[in-house]
Amino acid sequence: MNPELEFAQCFESATALDGELAARCFLATCSPDGRPSVRVVFHRPGASQRVRFFTNYLSRKGQEIAGNPQIAVAFHWPQLNRQVRLEGVCVKTTPADSDAYFAARPRDSQLAARLSQQSQPIESVTQLRAQHAAELSAVDPGTLSRPAHWGGYELIPDRIEFWTAGAARLHERVLWKLGPAGWVSELLAP
Ligand SMILES: Cc1cc2nc3c(=O)[nH]c(=O)nc-3n(C[C@H](O)[C@H](O)[C@H](O)COP(=O)(O)O)c2cc1C
Repeated sequence: MNPELEFAQCFESATALDGELAARCFLATCSPDGRPSVRVVFHRPGASQRVRFFTNYLSRKGQEIAGNPQIAVAFHWPQLNRQVRLEGVCVKTTPADSDAYFAARPRDSQLAARLSQQSQPIESVTQLRAQHAAELSAVDPGTLSRPAHWGGYELIPDRIEFWTAGAARLHERVLWKLGPAGWVSELLAP
């Protein structure tokens, strides 16, 4: 079994049960000097089915990824009794990929992505919302282009762990590691 395929199949099953909620994942990044940070993002798989998310490249996470591309992601799908953890290197998706995703977003989200300097200090969220509302009604309803600071990232995993709940906390943990000969798995104590 290829763990990347298994991940994609699990995500599909979780989505069938939970819809949009299944796409939430915890994304951990780490600054070059070793300070970790974690937040929730939505997994938006593309053709490769790998973990893909869209964000502001200048946000805290974007800056941390620029300095240290190693990331970790965790999903919890309670209805499947499963947790999946993935680790590896994160790369920006192509501009064409980001453009296509941006173009498919609702107009108010597109405008928010253009306006928000994500993770920067601001004076007032009311002011930002007012600016958003004004621009939403004022802007010519033609196409809004994707700002250069916003786009996708994809995780190229080299570790994937599938955790499946078991009785008496004797859960099953299958850890896959990518080595020179391909993916190999081992069982870990719960
Ligand atoms: C359910 C949920 C989904 C989210 N999805 C995203 C997302 O896909 N992209 C994103 O940039 N932020 C998303 N956020 C906001 C992030 O959690 C975070 O606040 C933001 O990206 C700034 O993080 P940073 O300062 O560490 O860069 C989401 C938050 C929640 C609660």
